[in-house]
Amino acid sequence: MSEDKTSAPVIAIDGPSGSGKSTVSKTLATALDAGYLDTGAMYRAATHAVLQAEVDPDDADEVLKTVTTATIEIATSPEQPSVTVDGDEADEAIRSDETTANVSAVAAHGDVRKHLIKQQQELIKAAAGGIVVEGRDIAEVVAPDADLKIYLTANPDERARRRAAETGNDADSTKDSIDKRDQADSKTTRPLEAPDDSHVIDSTDLPIVEVVAKILALLNNRNIDG
Ligand code: DC
Repeated sequence: MSEDKTSAPVIAIDGPSGSGKSTVSKTLATALDAGYLDTGAMYRAATHAVLQAEVDPDDADEVLKTVTTATIEIATSPEQPSVTVDGDEADEAIRSDETTANVSAVAAHGDVRKHLIKQQQELIKAAAGGIVVEGRDIAEVVAPDADLKIYLTANPDERARRRAAETGNDADSTKDSIDKRDQADSKTTRPLEAPDDSHVIDSTDLPIVEVVAKILALLNNRNIDG
């Protein structure tokens, strides 16, 4: 995708919730002085718009109308990755339990995906200094020509532990809701399967810095191999 693979790489990071994608992607983008795009935040922002408009998340036509009418803007700085909906800051709202519970339904509508994927591809194209893009379908759909593709995973207990630590909810109910979301997301994307051409990294027992070091080593090898 990028001409100069050394200075402006596009790096795809896919994986399920709690795999460590966000922390790894932000740390990596900062280390590379590159941009950071959280595609999950865009689906969450779309869901927030739908809930605010009191639209049924399963109503494909109304959801599409709401999402395409709303102005969703996402900042691609790894230090301050903020999102706004119709000009209003929505960073907290997109992480609410209500948004999380409804995001899979909104993300399941094909036309909503097309709309957001187009925006994601434009943001990637505009990232002159390279970009780390995290999500569920980056390697396969959003950036099939990415310079490096990573599939990050961790075992279900560890994923639930991490998510619970972030949200303050208890680990058992978190495991349950992660499991439900994985199943729902699996109808649309393949969060639990590594794409064929991705490097798989299991972060269950690896600290973030080591995951990032592994990715940087893969990127360097790629540059050396051409
Ligand atoms: O990564 P996350 O938990 O913030 O993502 C929120 C939801 O958005 C996730 O449950 C599925 C959806 N999603 C998607 O369908 N495709 C992506 N590329 C990223 C997220």
